[in-house]
Amino acid sequence: MKKQLFYLLLAAGVLSACGPAAPQLGKDSVEDVIGAMTLEEKAHLVIGTGMVGTSGDSTVIGTTKKLVPGAAGTTYPIPRLGIPAIVLADGPAGLRIDPIREGDSATYYCTHFPIGTLLASTWNQDLVEEVGKSIGNEVLEYGADVLLAPALNIHRNPLCGRNFEYYSEDPLVSGKIAAAYVRGIQSNGVGTSIKHFAVNNQETNRNANDARITPRALREIYLKGFEIAVKESAPWTVMSSYNHINGTYASENTDLLSTLLRDEWNFEGMVVTDWFGGKDAVAQMIAGNDMLQPGRANQYDMIIEGVKSGKLDESILNRNVKRVLELILQTPHFKEYKYSNKPDLKAHAAVTRQSATEGMVLLKNNNETLPFERKVRNIALFGCTSYDFIAGGTGSGNVNRAYTVSLLDGLKNAGYQIDEALKADYEQYIEAENKKNTPDSSQPFSRFMPVPRPTELIPTTKVLSEQVAKADVALVTLGRTSGEFVDRNVSDFELSEEELQLLKSVSQAFHAAGKKVVVVLNIGGVIETASWKKLPDAILLAWQAGQEGGNSVTDVLSGKVSPSGKLTMTFPNKLMDVASSTNFPMDARANTDVRNKEDKSSSVKNVDYTDYEEDIFVGYRYFDSFGKQVSYPFGYGLSYTTFEYVNPSVKVDNGIYSVSIDVKNVGKFAGKEVVQLYVSAPNRFQMNKPEKELKAFTKTKELRPGETVTATLKLNTTDLASYDEASSSWVVDAGNYKFLIGTSSKDIKAVLDVDVVSVVEKTNDILKPQETVNTIKR
Ligand code: BGC
Repeated sequence: MKKQLFYLLLAAGVLSACGPAAPQLGKDSVEDVIGAMTLEEKAHLVIGTGMVGTSGDSTVIGTTKKLVPGAAGTTYPIPRLGIPAIVLADGPAGLRIDPIREGDSATYYCTHFPIGTLLASTWNQDLVEEVGKSIGNEVLEYGADVLLAPALNIHRNPLCGRNFEYYSEDPLVSGKIAAAYVRGIQSNGVGTSIKHFAVNNQETNRNANDARITPRALREIYLKGFEIAVKESAPWTVMSSYNHINGTYASENTDLLSTLLRDEWNFEGMVVTDWFGGKDAVAQMIAGNDMLQPGRANQYDMIIEGVKSGKLDESILNRNVKRVLELILQTPHFKEYKYSNKPDLKAHAAVTRQSATEGMVLLKNNNETLPFERKVRNIALFGCTSYDFIAGGTGSGNVNRAYTVSLLDGLKNAGYQIDEALKADYEQYIEAENKKNTPDSSQPFSRFMPVPRPTELIPTTKVLSEQVAKADVALVTLGRTSGEFVDRNVSDFELSEEELQLLKSVSQAFHAAGKKVVVVLNIGGVIETASWKKLPDAILLAWQAGQEGGNSVTDVLSGKVSPSGKLTMTFPNKLMDVASSTNFPMDARANTDVRNKEDKSSSVKNVDYTDYEEDIFVGYRYFDSFGKQVSYPFGYGLSYTTFEYVNPSVKVDNGIYSVSIDVKNVGKFAGKEVVQLYVSAPNRFQMNKPEKELKAFTKTKELRPGETVTATLKLNTTDLASYDEASSSWVVDAGNYKFLIGTSSKDIKAVLDVDVVSVVEKTNDILKPQETVNTIKR
C-alpha cells in the first residue's frame, strides 16, 4: 500500500523535488532508463504481473483485469520511469477477452474468425493478411498491445489436440501463412507472438515432455516455418514452448533462443514464455527468454537471488530488460492510443464469412452434386452438428463471440427450406444430450476443455421416408471439437458406430429414391474418411469456420462461391499409417502436468519423452517416399470449375528461379486455383531425401470461365538445401532437379528439368539429442 502511494506521488510529480527527475521511457534513452532502475524493478519487469497476484508484488494484483479483463497477461508498470503496463491477449482465431464486465452494461464481444487450419487451407497469403488486419484492429480497439498468435506448430500427428490452431504438416505453408498473418496484425501497430517455439506437437504432458529429435528434422521441418515467419514478417515477439527439446526446456534453451533465433535468424524482438512455462528463471534469463508470463513470485525471487549470488550476470538481465522496454515503446499503451472499445464488428463479420469460404475443401463431388444452384430447395438436414455448429476449438484458441451461425440458420438465411419437425426432433435431442455432457470439473482446466458432443441420433425408418419424400437432397454434418490440454483419442479420429449408421441409412434411403447425399465436415483436425467416403455423393470439408460458419458453408453449397481450399495435410487411410503414430501418446492420460516430475526412473514413452523417429518424413514426405496410399493427399481439393495448365517454363537469374505456367479456367464456374511447385532432388535414396517437397505456391485471382492467367512462382537455390548433420550445414547437392508443377502433391501437371550447382551454408552445431534417435530411412 505504502509502495503504491509512493509510486502515485512520484507519478504525480509530487516527489520530484526530492532529487533529479528520473529518466523517462521514450524521452530518455533506453540505456538511461535501465541505468535508473533498481534490481527489484528489473526483476519485476521481466516477469508478468501475475494471474492471481503471484508475481511477487501485491501492488500489481489485478492489473490485467483493470486494463482488459480476460486478457492473458500484462507487463509490470513502473510509472516513475514512464513505463506503462502493456496487455497481451490470445489468440489465433480472434482476440480472446471477457465479453461482459462487472458493473458495465456494454459488451466486448470479439469476432470469431476461422481456425488457423482453415486459413492455411486457403493457400492465399493476401487473404490471410487481410484477415490479420481485421483481427489486429480488434486488438487495437479493445486496448490490447500484443496478440498471442499465430500458432504454427507442425501437424505431426492427426491426434494433436491443438492442430486446429496450427496450419499444416508442411513448414513452407506454415511459415508463409504465419508471415502473412503477422504482417496483417502488425499493420495496426500492435504486436504478435509466434508460438509455440518449438516442437510443441502434443498436448499430453506438454509442460514436461521431451521431444527427442535430430537437428535435421528440427531444421527442415519443425523450425523452418518459424524461420520463414521471423525473416519475412519480423514478429514483435516469439513465445517459447512448454516442452523440452533434447533434454532442455525450450524456454531455458540458449541454442534455440539465442544462437539460432538471434544469431542465425537475426530476430530482434522479445521472447516470452508460454504461460507458466519452464522451471528455472535464471536459466530462462540466460537463454534469452526475456519475459516470463504470467509471472510467479518464485521467479522474482530466483532472479533477485541469482543476481545477488552471481549466478545471473546483471548485464544479462539488463539485456532482457532492454528488449522488454523496446517492445513497450512500440505499443499503443505506451503511445497512449485512445481505443474505442467499438471495433466494426459488422465489417469483420463480413470478412470472416468471406475468408471462411475460401479455406473449405471440396473432397468429393460426384456428378456435379454441388453446387445446389436451382436444383435444390428443400433440404433434409441430419447430424446434431448441423443444428449446433462448431465455430472453433477450445482453450486459449477460443474466442468469446456474440453468436455462431449454425448450418441450419445459414441455409435458412439463403432461402432453403428445412423441415420443422426434423429440426424440432434434433433440437430436443441435443438439449437432453448436452445436459448429460457437462464439463468434467475434476479436471483442473475443465472450463477450457472440449465438452463431449452428443451421440449421433439415428433417424427411424418413418422419419427417413418422410424426409426422402419431402426433400430434394440430404445433408449430413459430422462434427468434432478439440482443444488445449488434451490430445484427441483414437475414437475421435474414427467415426462412431452411430455416425456410420446415420450415413449408411441416410445414403441408402435417399439413393433408393434417386436423391443425393452431401456430407459437411465441421471438424478441427483430420478424421478417418477412407471407409465411408463412398457413401455420400459429395463431401465438403468446412473445417471450423468461425462465427459466420453456417453462412459461409451455405455460400459454398449454393454456388455463390466456388471452393478453392486445398488440404494442408494428408488424410491417411488409417491412423497407424501415419509415421509418427508409433511415437504419439495414443489415448494417454491427458493431463498436462500429470507427469511433470524430475524422477525419470519410470519414464513413460510418449508422455515423458517422445522419439521423433519418423525424422523428416512427416505427412506427404512420408507417404510419397514410402509408397503408402492415402485417402486424400496433401494439396488436394476440388473446384466447381476445371483448370488447364499450359506453357510451363523456368528461368534462372542470379540464384533465383522463376517458374511460370498459364492457368486457364476451362469450366463453367468462376474460380481460383492454387498452383503448387514441388521439387524432386537428385540421388534422393542415397541422400535420404523425400520423394518431393513443396518449395513454392501461389493462388490465382478469381478466373472467369475462359480466362487465363500466368502464375509465377519464385525460389532461391538455397531453398533446395537439405540439412547435413555431419558438417552442420545446409547443403544444396549439385545435379538435375525435377520441378513439378501440380494442383496437389499427387496431381502433377508439368515437369521441368533444372540443373543446379552446389551451395553450402555453414550453421552452428547445436540442438543435438542426448540419446541416439533411431530415425527411419528410405
Ligand atoms: C497456451 C498459449 C496461450 C497462453 C495464454 C497457454 O496455455 O499454450 O497458447 O497463449 O496460454 O493464454
